[in-house]
Amino acid sequence: RLSQVVSKQVIDSTNLMALRELNQPDAHRSLYLAEYQESGKGRRGRRWVSPFASNLYMSLVWRFQQGVAALEGLSLVVGVAVAEALQAYGLSDVKLKWPNDLLVGQSKLGGILLEMQGDASGECHVVIGIGLNVAMHESAATGVDQPWTSVAGALKRPVSRNELLMAILERLIGRLEVFSQQGFSAFKSQWEALHAYQNDDITLHLGSKQISGRCVGVDEHGALLVDQGGEVKTYHAGEVSVRLH
Ligand code: BTN
Repeated sequence: RLSQVVSKQVIDSTNLMALRELNQPDAHRSLYLAEYQESGKGRRGRRWVSPFASNLYMSLVWRFQQGVAALEGLSLVVGVAVAEALQAYGLSDVKLKWPNDLLVGQSKLGGILLEMQGDASGECHVVIGIGLNVAMHESAATGVDQPWTSVAGALKRPVSRNELLMAILERLIGRLEVFSQQGFSAFKSQWEALHAYQNDDITLHLGSKQISGRCVGVDEHGALLVDQGGEVKTYHAGEVSVRLH
């Protein structure tokens, strides 16, 4: 069900590799994997620390008939798929931080970076980049600028990257097929059930501005809903970042 699997020892970034190959006829359903990324990319222009042979670095290319505008909730759906795969693997306390960070407690387990090529109305190719800390060692994580954990660390047992990869792919592909047909609304309640800060007081960072409120969930497009003194306001990914109050 994948069109191709390309696996490299060393690459700049699996997302960049996927983006370079986007115009190939079999781009849809291509999977790119690497053992090491020289310039792994995180959200908001940050670096994704990518030590050798200890984590999963993967990028899946998916083609959507909808334009970019209809894909707002896609990154949340990817988060749901990865979180469910981890739960099935035994990691019951995995949670999602909006829009799509994977957390255990307050520590980051993984992240998702979507990069799109297409226009507002027509067909669109999306590179779905997933970075998951599987067995990252303390000494390899010196450049990580936030509290982090790994699947092996959280489970306190060795884990198989191959098994994890298969569990993630199986769920992810199924969820992407549902999302193409039904959009984000089919996933809203699942996402909220996995939400780390559901009904918690949070601070939103909007550039230099800070807003406090109670996080009441997401709307049918995947935008964040924040109750600010009785008035519920909507925020879109990319505009704001969320911290626990
Ligand atoms: C985040 O900042 O939370 C998103 C991190 C995404 C990292 C993954 S690793 C595989 C893919 N290739 C990249 O360069 N980035 C993504």
